[in-house]
Amino acid sequence: MTAPKALVAGNWKMNGLKASASELSKLNTLIQEKGAKCDVLICPPYTLINTFVSLNAKNVSIGAQDCHMNMSGAHTGDISAEMICDLGCEYIIVGHSERRADHGESNEIVKAKAVAAQSVGATAIICVGETIEQREAGQALQVVTTQVKASIPDSAKVENTIIAYEPVWAIGTGHTPTTGDVEEVHQAVRDVLQSRFGDAGRNIRILYGGSVKASNALELMSVKNVNGALVGGASLKADDFYGIISAYDKIG
Ligand code: PGA
Repeated sequence: MTAPKALVAGNWKMNGLKASASELSKLNTLIQEKGAKCDVLICPPYTLINTFVSLNAKNVSIGAQDCHMNMSGAHTGDISAEMICDLGCEYIIVGHSERRADHGESNEIVKAKAVAAQSVGATAIICVGETIEQREAGQALQVVTTQVKASIPDSAKVENTIIAYEPVWAIGTGHTPTTGDVEEVHQAVRDVLQSRFGDAGRNIRILYGGSVKASNALELMSVKNVNGALVGGASLKADDFYGIISAYDKIG
């Protein structure tokens, strides 16, 4: 059975100004000239989505980093999935650990956001991951599978759902789990997806995220059931990000 086509996604977090559009243009040109064996996505801050979509960079999809669970109404400062979709985005990240921690987002809220994203035709990238305390207490598998079960809506399909396993302690720290640990968690997520969604569960992409960079991408992306990467810091510069994308040139 062939693995689903990989996705390398960049999460710019709260970084980037209008001038950063040059990095998207550069990335698009790099892919145009040198190719990419995976799908490529950039999720800039909301303020740049329109600029980035308008650049019409054919080799790079544009997504958002979060959405509100409701489509409209009295939610000052929030952005709905419909608004994001209206700009031409196809992907919305939900449940990133920084949202779960900084904004108290529960699995129930994450699930409602995933439903909102899917209901406007976008693919929800649902993030899960354990803290260092949980890993050291031997609870990583249990924490992650519980998050997956509780955060994924029944409406999940191959076309509208991606899971991103991001150990909280690996995000922005330069630390990564061993490939054995990554394989163990991704297999556990795969098992949950398969038992709940059958064939679709076999093909829903599971990304790894947390300190992915060009120098470790090949090793991490070669792990069984790793179907791509969610990249923070190393996605901000086109050359660094392309270094991760090009790891797929070597993966059969
Ligand atoms: P990082 O972030 O690549 O900077 O560790 C990953 C993420 O939070 O998505």
